[in-house]
Amino acid sequence: MTVESAGPAAATGTALSEPPVAGGAVPLLGHGWRLARDPLAFLTRLRDHGDVVRLRLGPKTVYAVTAPHLTGALALSPDYIIAGPLWESLESLLGKEGVATANGPLHRRQRRTIQPAFRLDAIPGYGPVMAEEAYALVDRWSTGEVLDVTAESFRAAVRVSARCLMRGGYMDVHAERICADLATLFSGMYQRMVVPLGPLYRVPVPSNREFNRALADLHLLVDEIVADRRASGRKPDDLLTALLDAKDDQGEPIGEQEIHDQVIAILTPGSETVGSMLMSLLLVLTEHPETGDRIRAEVERTVGGRPVAFEDVRKLTYTANVVVETMRLHPAVWVLTRRTVADTELGGYRIPAGADVIYSPYAVQRDRRSFDRPEQFDPDRWLPGRSGEVPKYAMAPFSVGNRKCPSDHFSMAELTLITAVLATAYRFEQAPGSDPRPRIGITLRPRALKVRAVPR
Ligand code: HEM
Repeated sequence: MTVESAGPAAATGTALSEPPVAGGAVPLLGHGWRLARDPLAFLTRLRDHGDVVRLRLGPKTVYAVTAPHLTGALALSPDYIIAGPLWESLESLLGKEGVATANGPLHRRQRRTIQPAFRLDAIPGYGPVMAEEAYALVDRWSTGEVLDVTAESFRAAVRVSARCLMRGGYMDVHAERICADLATLFSGMYQRMVVPLGPLYRVPVPSNREFNRALADLHLLVDEIVADRRASGRKPDDLLTALLDAKDDQGEPIGEQEIHDQVIAILTPGSETVGSMLMSLLLVLTEHPETGDRIRAEVERTVGGRPVAFEDVRKLTYTANVVVETMRLHPAVWVLTRRTVADTELGGYRIPAGADVIYSPYAVQRDRRSFDRPEQFDPDRWLPGRSGEVPKYAMAPFSVGNRKCPSDHFSMAELTLITAVLATAYRFEQAPGSDPRPRIGITLRPRALKVRAVPR
């Protein structure tokens, strides 16, 4: 079936019913107030109302999918595209011509351009940068001072993405600037998405001015990155070179706007997600000190006394399972939305063309139908003998299908390496003032983690 096709409901002519409306709606606001008040609890409880349910958000109807086989079917179906409120709120940052927001043939061509940089055989080339940044954290944290984990995690994430994918001394310097801009932008964008006050965000109060300054600076910075690379005449084998050399379907060089949007669309999701996951991993290490001890024992057993290198990562199976289990319980991408391009069918129900559809990896990955003791942190559930029990698509923190994160191997290698290095060097304790409750934003992460790194 193609994106243009009418979908199975229309094709077969069968009259399907719409999914049931989830319980708990109130007049006027519908389910909106519950969703706004506690989105994680609300989305998690939706499974009790059905595999596919309708939500009323004010005057709007949104379709929510709760069963893993159906979230998988949705992600794999061409009847759904990237569109809807989440994406509209991200447009001022991501543009419309980058891989994260484009659809159809443009998206397919862009995936072909970026994919080589993320291929399994390209990842070892990034190993030295990943290891260098991991050990840089160990050095920075040796003072014994209380760490602001938010700033530290995002800084590391931006530096690894920028240095690996857009190599060069220029990026080393400007990673700090990208980092500061993104921190301002991501919190502002989430606010704009959940509280859509439109023109009020143009009023020149300090918070709006700061948001606009960060947005303008990030766009300027990306233009500088591109200009700098062109002026250097260098063509290292990296993602930026691939973007600058990319051709459109007619064999013509792609336009400046597309190059710009592509750089942003790769740097920003990469930094926000990895930064959030690093925070959650540090949270887990404070909550489960025995996990840190086991990671250290694994590193000592497999690596010995020398520094951990990228080549060791595939042998660090316990550490990798800790990363996977942390992603299950604290998925950085906790909610995803799509829009239908045609009348279609899901789980035996009719979903009309133009409908907004939502699902939550957080809810699916904590579903008792898929996981034994779902709330319990248990890295060993990913051991070969046990992981086979997990239903298909019940664990998909990088998603599946044509929008699957291109960086799954890259991110797993990065997070496993950094976790191994940090847990071997330090035990982590939360310090006074730490607030580990989940912070709901574009990504999910601890609200304000303050940590002391205690040398082992
Ligand atoms: C897409 C998760 C790291 C670049 C996605 C999607 C998910 C995801 C779930 C699919 C979104 C959707 O279906 O709507 C993650 C997680 C990460 C991570 C959990 C880290 C732990 C990264 C990194 C980069 C990156 C490091 C780049 C350096 C992208 C891009 C897309 C994407 C460009 C859009 C792909 C497309 O639409 O074709 N990511 N991501 N991600 N991710 Fe990641």
